[in-house]
Amino acid sequence: MKRKPLIAANWKMNKGIGESLDYFLKFKDKNIDYSQVDVLIAPPYISLYPMYKEIKANKSPIFLSSQNIYMKDEGAYTGEISAAMVKSCGATYTILGHSERREYFNETDEIVNMKLKKAISAELNIILCVGERDIEREAGVAYEVVLSQLGKSLMGVTEEEIERIAIAYEPVWAIGTGKTASSEDAEAMHNEIRKKIEILYNKTIGESIRILYGGSVKPENIRELMQKENIDGALVGGASLDVEKFCKIATFYA
Ligand code: 13P
Repeated sequence: MKRKPLIAANWKMNKGIGESLDYFLKFKDKNIDYSQVDVLIAPPYISLYPMYKEIKANKSPIFLSSQNIYMKDEGAYTGEISAAMVKSCGATYTILGHSERREYFNETDEIVNMKLKKAISAELNIILCVGERDIEREAGVAYEVVLSQLGKSLMGVTEEEIERIAIAYEPVWAIGTGKTASSEDAEAMHNEIRKKIEILYNKTIGESIRILYGGSVKPENIRELMQKENIDGALVGGASLDVEKFCKIATFYA
C-alpha cells in the first residue's frame, strides 16, 4: 500500500512571528512536488494565524499545526489554548504527546488521550508522538513502552476517528542529540506499531496509517530512513529551523 509521505517541521519554542513569516516566504518558493509529499509546519501558537494568512494568500499546500492543545474547551486555565482556538487560527493539525511535553509538563498517556479526543471533536488532525527513553531501550523494553503508550493514548478512539491520526515514533534518546536510530531499528519499531494498529483496529487501517520517524533527522539521513517500507515520513526538530535543510529533507524523493 502506497502511503503519501508526510514531512513535518516541529519548531518547538523557536522563532517569533517575523522569523516565522520570513521562513515561510522563503520556503514557499522552493521547488517541492506536493503530489509526492505532504509538508507540515508546527510553529509556536503565536505564529499560527499570521502564517495561515500567508499560506492562504499564496495558495500554498503546506499544512499548519500546533504543537499542543489543552484538554478543556474553555475556562479558567491561565495560559492554555483549546483545540477550537487552534482550529480558529487556521491550523488543521496538532502534535500531541511529544516527549518534551511528557517530560517537562508531566503529560501522561491519560492526558494525551483526553487531548486527542478534544482535537478530534474540533476536527483537527493529530500527530501522536510515542517513544522510549534510553534506559528503557537498554533494558530491552522499548517495544512494550511504545506499544503501551500507543494503546493508552488511543483508548476509546474509533475506526473513523483514527483516520485523523498519524503516529510519530520518536525515541527520546535520539531527540536533539545527533544520535539517530538506525534505519533498521526504526523500521522494526514502525512495523510493531503498524501491527498493533492492525490489532486495535483492522488491517486496512494498519496499512493506511502514516508512521513518521523523529529524532535527529537531517538531510544526510532522510533518504535511508524513507527507503524503509514502514517509515512514512519524518517529524523534524532542529534541522527544520533552517529553510534550506528542511527543504532538502522535504525533497528526499528527488
Ligand atoms: P530533533 O530533530 O531536533 O532531534 O527533534 C526531533 C523532535 O523532537 C521532533 O518533534
